[in-house]
Amino acid sequence: MTFLILKTLSPPPPPPPPLFSLNPRNLTSSSSSLLHCSNPSHLTLETNIATSESQKETERGLEFEPGDSFFRHESAIGRDLGALAASLYKKSKGSLRVLDAMCGCGVRSLRYLVQSEADFVWANDGNEDYNKTIISNLSTFRVHDEAEEKKKKWVVTHSDANRVMTECYLNRDYFDLIDIDSFGSESTFIRSAYDALKLDGLLYLTSTDGYSSGGHRPHHSLASYGAFVRPMPFSNEVGLRMLIGGAVREASVLGFRVTPLFSYYSYHGPVFRVMLQVNRGKVPESRNYGFISYCTQCGSSQEISWHGLGRISCPCSNGEVSSSLVVSGPLWTGPLHDTAYVKEMLNLAQEWEWAGSGSKGPDIEKLLTQMVDESDPKLPFGYIKLDEVASRAKVNSPPLRSMMSSILEEGYAVSRSHIASNAIKTNCPMSLCIQIAKNLQQS
Ligand SMILES: C[S@@+](CC[C@H](N)C(=O)[O-])C[C@H]1O[C@@H](n2cnc3c(N)ncnc32)[C@H](O)[C@@H]1O
Ligand SMILES: [Zn+2]
Repeated sequence: MTFLILKTLSPPPPPPPPLFSLNPRNLTSSSSSLLHCSNPSHLTLETNIATSESQKETERGLEFEPGDSFFRHESAIGRDLGALAASLYKKSKGSLRVLDAMCGCGVRSLRYLVQSEADFVWANDGNEDYNKTIISNLSTFRVHDEAEEKKKKWVVTHSDANRVMTECYLNRDYFDLIDIDSFGSESTFIRSAYDALKLDGLLYLTSTDGYSSGGHRPHHSLASYGAFVRPMPFSNEVGLRMLIGGAVREASVLGFRVTPLFSYYSYHGPVFRVMLQVNRGKVPESRNYGFISYCTQCGSSQEISWHGLGRISCPCSNGEVSSSLVVSGPLWTGPLHDTAYVKEMLNLAQEWEWAGSGSKGPDIEKLLTQMVDESDPKLPFGYIKLDEVASRAKVNSPPLRSMMSSILEEGYAVSRSHIASNAIKTNCPMSLCIQIAKNLQQS
């Protein structure tokens, strides 16, 4: 096998700060034009495989070395979810080409090759200091079929992700799955990712912009995602909805429609990840893209349609304009996951023996089961923290299970939230939740 490397960035970016992005306009490399070749297998720049002495790691049975790259063990679940989704895609379509636009040490690329059986992976990272590490990791991938062995299965480049994706678009070199695992907000990459994605392809987006989702810089979230986001008790779910909403907005400009297959929040970082399926088509009338409110006085949340913008009021204010209402949007207000799809992922995780306490790795079974539960279409956006219910009811925090059983007995839908451990998703009004908490305390 020939290993292909493109070096296009000079100087390399510094070690990763929390918010980091490469602006191609600041780059002075004269070799960036090398990327005009659409099919990386036509590139002929070669290098030797590096032997690195850095610590070896293992993830779901695959050995690799992080080297000096930005690598987090805590992101293993995000990589699990990506590998499962990519594998489902390969099984249903028969082929899979992946662009790992910010690959770090290349562990994801390796997992897409080995676990998802990708036919081809383009591993790109702006930092060319990671070159030897990425090559060393991908070189561990072996094909046992002679005909397959002759094909170029992967390529490594070092360029700005937007540049790579734009070049792909110009060369009509489209990918089935594009993974953008960036720091901070990735909204600057969404448009070019759509351009380089096949129709019905998958776009795996990551954001670590916890300040924006927390409502601490609404003008920034407005610029990045087109959403004015204010502080809300379920801000980490708002983070996912802000990210999907931003992607919906960009997609509609291009005549595309996106469907979230799964959405995942992790407190390390924090990290917001969404897997979107992208198709041509109009945004439906029930667009799942609007405004949400939270009332600081009574604790109720509402979805507000675009037509209702001039008439926003909380029932606790008897139709009067409510100064107690906090409104954010426009955001994605539809389901965070596709139930059938997440069930398929769960089945595959079980088949691969990633599920259950015996598996070596994070508890993906528990996460996927919670995602199935919270994708019940009867459940609205947001979640209610039991501490808030307790504080409003002036009682101790009620046991989660008892609270859920009582809500079910009252005829409402309820589930846990994968985002917050002591919280519930429910269509039961806050006033009734408060009453139930009081009753539980008395009994
Ligand atoms: C969160 S790390 C990637 C981690 C990796 N995907 C994993 O799963 O271990 C983000 C990476 O993006 C790279 N990066 C940042 N901005 C970039 C840009 N504009 N274009 C390409 N790579 C970039 C950084 O060098 C860094 O390695
Ligand atoms: Zn109210």
